[in-house]
Amino acid sequence: MGENSVPVIEAPPTASLADPLTLACGVTLTNRLAKSAMSEQLGSRANAPTPELNRLYRRWADGGLGLQITGNVMVDRRAVGEPLNVVVEDDRDFDGLAQWADAAKSGGSPAIVQLNHPGRQTLPAIASEIVAPSAVRVKIPGTPFVKPRALTGEEIETIIQRFATSAEIVTRAGFDGVQLHGAHGYLISQFLSPSVNQRDDEWGGDPERRRRFAIEIARAVREAIGPERILAVKLNSTDFQRGGFTEDESLAVIEQLGEGGVDLLEISGGTYERPAMVGSQRSSQSESSRAREAYFLEFAERAKLVTRMPLMVTGGLRSATAMTGALREGIDVIGIARPVCLEPDLPKRLIANDGTVSKLKPIRTGVKRLDPPADLWWSNIQLRRMGAGKNPRRTLSGWEAIGHALARDGLNSVRRKRS
Ligand SMILES: Cc1cc2nc3c(=O)[nH]c(=O)nc-3n(C[C@H](O)[C@H](O)[C@H](O)COP(=O)(O)O)c2cc1C
Repeated sequence: MGENSVPVIEAPPTASLADPLTLACGVTLTNRLAKSAMSEQLGSRANAPTPELNRLYRRWADGGLGLQITGNVMVDRRAVGEPLNVVVEDDRDFDGLAQWADAAKSGGSPAIVQLNHPGRQTLPAIASEIVAPSAVRVKIPGTPFVKPRALTGEEIETIIQRFATSAEIVTRAGFDGVQLHGAHGYLISQFLSPSVNQRDDEWGGDPERRRRFAIEIARAVREAIGPERILAVKLNSTDFQRGGFTEDESLAVIEQLGEGGVDLLEISGGTYERPAMVGSQRSSQSESSRAREAYFLEFAERAKLVTRMPLMVTGGLRSATAMTGALREGIDVIGIARPVCLEPDLPKRLIANDGTVSKLKPIRTGVKRLDPPADLWWSNIQLRRMGAGKNPRRTLSGWEAIGHALARDGLNSVRRKRS
């Protein structure tokens, strides 16, 4: 695996959530708590940023985060992942992006935009382009996913350029950089997966060619944003699927991204088919892993051996004790998502008091298969409440969340099809 596979001897890891961290590009995270990306679905019907987004990000900025990562922003308006995603293709919404950046940075910490292309993980009601490395459908019983069209080589090059264009625009608008969404079964992760990427050309056929799409996007984006902005990547430890992207393949991607000038690597896992990112694989974890809360910490420890890139772990962390424990084990940044939907000021309290624990409880419907989507919708409803200037509502039930989301997204899909 090259010379970087030799364990790296570093200065003793920090043990304090309050410590700043300066990345290789020169941007400083004001502390070790980062808000991980959460799709807000608060764009306008024309996929522009809105005052609701500004209000939400100002609230989170007041909460004491060291870094904010926006929810996924799409690079192609024909291929959105969810209704009301923000899309950045050109300068048409430049002023709105600048206001969003301003709001997100109002607490004095940096903010970056997560860029994404959903590939096959979207629905015909909202996307006219449903593409993938190969024509392999998302397999979830009872869902309306369709067979995607396999991309041509020329289209692949165009998508790489789209990521670079969007990155240049959002950084010019004031964001401190971008994160590429290489996790959770979206297009970059589809290229990495041997079961979805069945190509046998320069974009598939073996692990090196499967990771070329990710590497080329990182290279194009770095060129577009220059050396002084954050280039981060979110990557799966594994897809948790037979025949999917494995831990060993992920380590090889991490090693190469580190050599390619990536500033920060966020580790997650899973896809729509296996939603490990929100804890669906938790029951198969060892007792000691559960005590450490984080879903992907063991993999992160392996990753630490192949790269010097700062690592961020996201998924499951709820207490200051476990977060500080992860820092002590060599993790550089703690990612938090669902907890700040209920408690936007949690970061400040975690830093001030090492006994702090999030009040968030797992969202349960009584139907196991519905728990992951209910959990996502529950959080999404809370962040939309904050966008509307309200407080989160702790008593919202999983079933209420499902009801709200179906009513809302169903309606949006119909509206969008007509417009
Ligand atoms: C409502 C919602 C939307 C999400 N949207 C995104 C997204 O746009 N991009 C992404 O990388 N992860 C997304 N995630 C996953 C989170 O970033 C995170 O990986 C996951 O929630 C686990 O972290 P947690 O246990 O702190 O919530 C989303 C999660 C939630 C709850």
